[in-house]
Amino acid sequence: MDLPPGVLQPREAVLKMAPYSPPTAGRVGKLRLDFNENTVGASPRVIEYLREHLTADGLSVYPEYGEIKSELAEFFGVDPEDFILTNGTDEAIQVLINTYVDDDDEVLLLQPSYAMYRFYAEVAGAAVRAIPYRREKLAFPLEELLQTIRPTTRAILIANPNNPTATGTSRAGIERILDRAAGAAVLIDEAYYEFCGVTALPLLNDFGMAAMRLGCLFSQSGNVDFLHKAQSPYSVNSVAVLAARAAIQDRAYIEKYVTEVLAARELLYVGLEKLGIKYFDSKANFVLFEAGDRAIPLRDELRRRGVLVRDRSYELPGCVRVTVGTRDQVRRFLGELEQIW
Ligand SMILES: Cc1ncc(COP(=O)(O)O)c(C=O)c1O
Repeated sequence: MDLPPGVLQPREAVLKMAPYSPPTAGRVGKLRLDFNENTVGASPRVIEYLREHLTADGLSVYPEYGEIKSELAEFFGVDPEDFILTNGTDEAIQVLINTYVDDDDEVLLLQPSYAMYRFYAEVAGAAVRAIPYRREKLAFPLEELLQTIRPTTRAILIANPNNPTATGTSRAGIERILDRAAGAAVLIDEAYYEFCGVTALPLLNDFGMAAMRLGCLFSQSGNVDFLHKAQSPYSVNSVAVLAARAAIQDRAYIEKYVTEVLAARELLYVGLEKLGIKYFDSKANFVLFEAGDRAIPLRDELRRRGVLVRDRSYELPGCVRVTVGTRDQVRRFLGELEQIW
């Protein structure tokens, strides 16, 4: 490829990648059902805690992770040596790839899935193999995945439940993958754990603060030593650390929100059925539905009406993904949908 004069040739892997730029602009003030965020905001206790603890002095010091690691270890019921803190889930994916995957190594992922798996695998120059979800119900392709794993497979990146399909596999399914892939680094991304209850760990790992970017990557301590070695020492900022300390003190807030979302999801199903719209059963806080060739016009018309949803027709023809918020938010979405369907 010829580059303009003065433009430096990037690595081959970067040159080959398709650009990825999710539509994050112009979302403030709208009903945001497009990115699977918490739709009611972080716990007020987190804001209060930040007001009390954010100081000029605190913000001028490199972050310290000792206290938050002990508190999170207790929260998750693990040892502090069993995990690293990461800048959101994305850095967890990146650190895992950086630790285990070389140029041309085989990385397996499912398709469609969270875009950042392919993104980091491709940046690393990995040989990516994608296994499709089963089309009929978008069920987790467990047998197909098991058959694809080879002794040379270096990493497997899975979201359970998955985005955007909202489908998942059982704990037993995960165990079969781990057994089969003993020589590979297997990432089980549980970003939506609270809504499905299936986990490789007994407790949740997301605190409903998408802007704060705090994630945890768990493994046995021997692996964690290497992951830690391949990570920047300051990647999680001090404000996120403070916010996480407060968030884990307010578990009731998350529980209440999850209960509300699960009720709202039922309401959404009923509303979609009334309109004769086919949807896929969800194990997460979002639902994928079929809008046929109207997916993009529907998304655009909803946006004009102040409601944001995400078109997925580029990977699943005709499909639109809507985040489930509160029952009131679902009613608003259904009200607008009824008028334009
Ligand atoms: C499967 C999956 N993992 C991770 C993320 C990112 O989560 P976080 O904001 O916790 O980094 C997303 C966001 O859409 C996701 O769908």
